[in-house]
Amino acid sequence: MWGGRFAGSSAEAFDRLNVSLPVDRRLWPEDVAASRVHAAMLGAQGIIDEADAASIEEGLVRVASELESGEFVFAPGDEDIHTAVERRLTELVGDAGRRLHTARSRNDQVITDTLIYLRTRAREQVGMLRGLAGALLAQASEHIDSLVPGYTHSQRAQPVRLAHHLLAYVWMLDRDRGRLAAAEAATEECPLGSGALAGVGFPVDRQRVARELGFDRPAPNSMDAVGSRDALVDYLHFAAQLGVHLSRLGSEIVMWAGDEHGFLELDDAYSSGSSMLPQKKNPDAAELARAKAARLTADLSGLLGVLAALPLAYNKDLQEDKTYLFDAVDSVELLLPAMAGTVATARFRPERMAEAAGGGAVVAIDLADHLVREGWPFRRAHEAVGSLVRDCLDRGASLAEARPEELERAGLAGMRLPELTAEASVEAKTAQGGTSRGAVEEQLRAAQNAVAAW
Ligand code: ARG
Repeated sequence: MWGGRFAGSSAEAFDRLNVSLPVDRRLWPEDVAASRVHAAMLGAQGIIDEADAASIEEGLVRVASELESGEFVFAPGDEDIHTAVERRLTELVGDAGRRLHTARSRNDQVITDTLIYLRTRAREQVGMLRGLAGALLAQASEHIDSLVPGYTHSQRAQPVRLAHHLLAYVWMLDRDRGRLAAAEAATEECPLGSGALAGVGFPVDRQRVARELGFDRPAPNSMDAVGSRDALVDYLHFAAQLGVHLSRLGSEIVMWAGDEHGFLELDDAYSSGSSMLPQKKNPDAAELARAKAARLTADLSGLLGVLAALPLAYNKDLQEDKTYLFDAVDSVELLLPAMAGTVATARFRPERMAEAAGGGAVVAIDLADHLVREGWPFRRAHEAVGSLVRDCLDRGASLAEARPEELERAGLAGMRLPELTAEASVEAKTAQGGTSRGAVEEQLRAAQNAVAAW
């Protein structure tokens, strides 16, 4: 492809490092599509003969069908997908194929292909996000009245509605959806027509090429266009943050499915057994979701590392961008359907959760709030309830079972305790964003609307 400049052939050790075909071959549909649009434009603008443009078009259709069916034979010299497509095209249509690369460089070609790919995957992934959000919403509507302990520092802190807990993840996904939209918006400018870095000296129609390839407009600066990977970084930011969210969800599912909590049972379809221990039912999907955050955050930091301090415009370093991008795309597309299924088929155990949500002193703050409503300063109420909690817990009783002498020691002599149940506790949190039935129902509607607007 660039043999004219070279007297010697390349070393095998160099070729093995330099080749990107194993990674970028998946870009063939985008590469062929962009070449077809480019060639038609060259013909229409009189940059190449219409007859040559027609032969290129015919040849590219054939190349695409060979790639599609798997008949396409890659040659040892095919350095990347762009080289392979052009090489085969030229075998098929001769000299016309040699005119395809007029007014184009692989530098504007590769980022054009990549942006088209990214846009397609981003659109597809909205549906996958919606699948998981839908599963969480369905479980939330089922479990408005199921109570579960809410934890801080892994200690039972206050009871909440299970719906409230699950909806927290829907709001995380809603923000992830915003980041995905930002990544898609970063693919709006078409790099093709930027050439190697300085633009091209032919009367190309960049508007037409941009429009026909689904972009909003041509990129305004050729050097920025071939050297920028911002859209990929935006996508990787989305994927890393989503990975962290799914990791937290996975971690809670693992814990909740475990024997010590027993808050839920996973469906057989999303669990696996142990090769040795017959009784085991392992939450593998959730564990893998927990672990994948590592590679998704690594993908983001990997690409940022490649880009930092890179001089304008194209550098071969940029070829490394796709390993990170594709790894993240693949991981997201593995994770989202599996997590949607895991959540959708999980069977929660409201009795187990209620048992954990009601006992002990998880409603201590409700007693303190009661005293505040009676006119106590909050700090004094906190101290009094704290000492009552200590007495009760010392003998294994719940707050509701406090004895008169314990109340007296806490400075609460003669006090008529309010209803100290988990139900009363969640129901008291009527402020927007809290756990009362009304507040959760309102939140559920808002979350359903948010997801419907994705
Ligand atoms: N395979 C290359 C990549 O992925 C294509 C661009 C090569 N450009 C170049 N000037 N060598 O980045």
